Amino acid sequence: MPDDHPIIITIDGPAGTGKSTVARELAARLGLGFLDTGSMYRAAAAIFIDEKFDRDQVGEFVSKVMGADLHFDWSQDPPVILAWDDPYNKRIRDTDVTATVSWVATLGELRSHMVRKQRIIAAQHPRLVSEGRDQGSIVFPDAMVKFYLDADPNVRARRRAEQLRAEGHAAEDSVMLERILERDRVDSTRADGPLICPDDAVVLDTSEMTADEVVTRMEETVRERVSSLATDAGLGD
Ligand code: DC
Repeated sequence: MPDDHPIIITIDGPAGTGKSTVARELAARLGLGFLDTGSMYRAAAAIFIDEKFDRDQVGEFVSKVMGADLHFDWSQDPPVILAWDDPYNKRIRDTDVTATVSWVATLGELRSHMVRKQRIIAAQHPRLVSEGRDQGSIVFPDAMVKFYLDADPNVRARRRAEQLRAEGHAAEDSVMLERILERDRVDSTRADGPLICPDDAVVLDTSEMTADEVVTRMEETVRERVSSLATDAGLGD
């Protein structure tokens, strides 16, 4: 397949399945860009907090996010999320943002804006591994390969707690489990873009797999798909 052929790979799944880690590594191995759509929702949550919006000001808030023109600096690895051309990559990891983003991500008006933005980004960068809750199900229904990562909630909670501790935060597995279950509930019951497994997704349960094993399995799947599409294209000539 030519180096400039569009390739969109999507990775959906709940919190703590390792989506970001494996998406980034898969993108590196395949020579594709990495689109972290969670960082866009997180940047919106940071704007919500920093601009002191109330929860009943959804229209004004979404207009503000539109005006911020969320996009990425692709010269960085991983790409850095920008709002009003300012880097937001550090701010979006703060605990107040993490506590607010699940609610922000339930807002239909905001989700529609994000879906449009993500499609524009993909039109400008058509070779991407795109990671989030709705990438294969809603944003890129024609993606070349769709993955859905899942894992036991206890394993996901333990991974999240380890990740936070590694970043120097206090985190208990049991508290993380409660948060993970609550996020699952919010993510899968929201009216717009709920977390679902696309029918045509390759499902991987990562509970017993290392990140490297997951990426290797994904890489094999993508390479097989690319080579069968290339063969089909050749046969069709
Ligand atoms: O993956 P993450 O933790 O950075 O995602 C932050 C939040 O944004 C999380 O509550 C799920 C939500 N999200 C979403 O609803 N749709 C996406 N495509 C990506 C993230």
